[in-house]
Amino acid sequence: MSEKKAQLSIDGKDSPIELPVYSGSTGPDVIDVRGLVAQGVFTYDPGFVSTAACESDITYIDGGAGVLLHRGYPIEQLAEKSNFLETCYLLLHGELPSKQEADKFENTIRYHTMVDEAIHQFFRGFPRDAHPMAMLCAVVGGLSAFYHDDLDIDNADHRLLAAHRVIAKMPTLAAMCFKHGMGQPFMYPQNKMGFAENFLHMMFGTPCEEPNVSPILAKAMDTLFLLHADHEQNASTSTVRLAGSTGTNPYACIASGIAALWGPAHGGANEAVLDMLNEIGDESRIEEYIGRAKDKNDPFRLMGFGHRVYKNYDPRATVIRGICDEVLDELGAENDPLLRMAKKLEKIALEDEYFIERKLFPNVDFYSGIILKAIGIPTEMFTVIFATGRTPGWIAHWHEMLSNPYKIGRPRQLYKGHTKRDYPG
Ligand code: SDX
Repeated sequence: MSEKKAQLSIDGKDSPIELPVYSGSTGPDVIDVRGLVAQGVFTYDPGFVSTAACESDITYIDGGAGVLLHRGYPIEQLAEKSNFLETCYLLLHGELPSKQEADKFENTIRYHTMVDEAIHQFFRGFPRDAHPMAMLCAVVGGLSAFYHDDLDIDNADHRLLAAHRVIAKMPTLAAMCFKHGMGQPFMYPQNKMGFAENFLHMMFGTPCEEPNVSPILAKAMDTLFLLHADHEQNASTSTVRLAGSTGTNPYACIASGIAALWGPAHGGANEAVLDMLNEIGDESRIEEYIGRAKDKNDPFRLMGFGHRVYKNYDPRATVIRGICDEVLDELGAENDPLLRMAKKLEKIALEDEYFIERKLFPNVDFYSGIILKAIGIPTEMFTVIFATGRTPGWIAHWHEMLSNPYKIGRPRQLYKGHTKRDYPG
């Protein structure tokens, strides 16, 4: 039972309403407002700025300090010492795997990477220039058609099988989105390859030549996936949880997360950053665009800057900025004009009072696109990469929610429409 209490006095109400206050293992306390509906009032929090929608053990963010922990491990340490599949295991199971557990998990994922041949027909129906996120959203939702019947979401083993399938198949489907756009044959996953190496092979390999993936680019890709793996209750993860709370199947939930991630205010920002840098075009125009970003009458915002939670550097952006230099050096593109412009833009913005006052720093999307472009991934594929990396986070939150008592999510509203009126005549 909660030790702390909050008291809420409302004008016109006889006595204050007493509400329990809970403390987590770290982070802000929460006020349990569930009792308010019995008192005839709702809380009001558009955008859920001050709302904790659930309990979770998976990821903790301290936005003021720029801290990101997955099951307690700092993202900087995971990026340096772990890998994507080990982090997937950590997000799903709560602890780092032993060597034996890691090998078993990697093998499990490996043997789920192929997709049903019928899915190849899904892609044939899309126009060649379909946006890859439109295709990914559709085909992931379509996985429900292949696995819907043998899935009991109240059975933890069934949930973990769905988690393994969706983590394993996402890179295969992502690469198929790219290949369809290129008019090239789909490449089958290679069981002898690592996760990120396999993805780059399925993206850039062809049946006409032997596989040839740079180990440095594969490592950079793996770290990028890892850095995108989870991020607490962000918009797309909250969408997955809300969909999951109705009891629908996990593939439909993940498809809803993909749809939410696509927005430029969320995961679509990495694509929007490259479009922005290309639109700015030259370092001499940076000041003009900084001015537009500050102009309330101009809808332009500095893409890749700002964050609902981070009011400090996004620790992922710091790691990605470092990988940028490594990858571009490896590719002999250390003088990449886009990277040079991004660094100049970052410097100018961070010295500008408008950004300092509002605590607007580069977020995960600011530099990621520069690496992806250097690897040869087209801009419209950037958010597909983000979705591939975020899949373990989405499915870990879905699994966590269904592993504990939960209720269907059903927010209320502040109604400002007409009160009752009779139909004329
Ligand atoms: C992701 O939630 C997550 O964890 C998301 C994510 C994840 O891993 O899942 O981290 C991934 O989505 C990162 C964010 C990617 N989006 C962008 O880079 C798009 C550009 N950023 C903005 O749209 C904005 O910063 C948001 C959407 C990210 C955050 O918006 P908020 O929290 O609603 O903040 P706000 O709009 O209330 O802004 C506060 C002030 C406003 O000015 P004032 O009204 O106070 O004068 O800051 C300004 C905003 O106008 N502002 C910006 C700005 N971001 C905020 N001004 C110019 N450029 C920007 N980028």
